[in-house]
Amino acid sequence: MRATLFGGPGDITVGERPDPRLETPTDAVVRVTLGCVCGSDLWYYRGVNPHALGPIGHEFIGVVEQVGADVTTLRPGDLVVAPFTYCDGTCANCAAGWTGNCLHGGSFGNHGIDGGQGEFVRVPYADATLVKVPGGGHSDTTLKSLLALSDVMCTGHHAAVSAGIEPGATVAVVGDGAVGLCAVIAAKRLGADRIIALSRNPTRQALAREFGATDIVIERGDDVTKLIMDMTGGLGVDAALECVGTGQSMATAFSIARVGSIVGAIGVPHDSVVPIDTVIFRNVGLRGGVAPARRYIPELLDDVLAGRVNPGLVFDYETDLDGIADAYTAMIERRATKSLVRISAGQ
Ligand SMILES: NC(=O)c1ccc[n+]([C@@H]2O[C@H](COP(=O)([O-])OP(=O)(O)OC[C@H]3O[C@@H](n4cnc5c(N)ncnc54)[C@H](O)[C@@H]3O)[C@@H](O)[C@H]2O)c1
Ligand SMILES: [Zn+2]
Repeated sequence: MRATLFGGPGDITVGERPDPRLETPTDAVVRVTLGCVCGSDLWYYRGVNPHALGPIGHEFIGVVEQVGADVTTLRPGDLVVAPFTYCDGTCANCAAGWTGNCLHGGSFGNHGIDGGQGEFVRVPYADATLVKVPGGGHSDTTLKSLLALSDVMCTGHHAAVSAGIEPGATVAVVGDGAVGLCAVIAAKRLGADRIIALSRNPTRQALAREFGATDIVIERGDDVTKLIMDMTGGLGVDAALECVGTGQSMATAFSIARVGSIVGAIGVPHDSVVPIDTVIFRNVGLRGGVAPARRYIPELLDDVLAGRVNPGLVFDYETDLDGIADAYTAMIERRATKSLVRISAGQ
């Protein structure tokens, strides 16, 4: 099969990999229809975070090709959404809902596990990992939103859930990548009244508004803290969602968090520091982490299929497997919010 290969920082090519085959009775092989590039892939591309050489890509939807003898809920021909991590569904962490921390799980597209930026993927623990999409003949718009459930929509939702957003809340979303934009959808979905999006990019500002942002602010650092404190009567926001992963974005999230609130953080941390004085003297908490996407997909899938949310709008660039290198550079150069990769024909 053909698959995207990570050859080191800045080195993304398409090459040959062995066709995946069933290795255990609980495996399935999925033919990838749509894949995409994630902000997390950009950390690898830039050489900021390590990634094993070889297959890459952790977000995909596709059609089941083969199932192992012990797979009971899936059949060849089923359309499925893959969460960005696979999980056994039975370990202590999965049982508690933390599917992204499965004791026997892992991430697609790293350490030799097939990636979603390739033609086929062997999926371990297929019954527990994959979510079958009901119905058929879904529109391209719906399919893009199903792809967003693989990671970014679930991750934005995780930031919102972690921060404990309640109806009527005032929320600020730090970060205007696909995850931050999906966090705007999630905040609205949970009933937030006022959603302040931090963004300087006109395309993303427009999408944030479409998703439910009521205010857009372009300031950064101390300026944005002062502005948001002024906007909230000096109190700060009920929920600050950190969707970037830098020292500045984490500092901003804590600086605008209202006394007694929780910062919902999902950005992969780089030079981030938790300001312990704010935690203690302002009673501000921190929650978040690796999104348990598999846990969230079913409820979000219902909303996607009913047309209540449309996270697929984050894809504003598309190509095929041969164009994968530009799919990365388009995001690096901010020509694209998120790059879609059409890998094979639909169902
Ligand atoms: N926890 C998880 O499970 C999980 C899953 C997916 C992605 N992530 C992480 O989430 C983060 C966001 O992902 P993405 O795909 O949206 O990334 P992205 O790189 O596409 O977007 C980040 C955006 O934040 C903006 N930004 C930078 N500093 C800012 C600041 N101080 N204030 C406001 N905006 C700022 C950037 O301009 C950029 O557009 C990344 O760190 C990614 O690795 C985590
Ligand atoms: Zn991702």
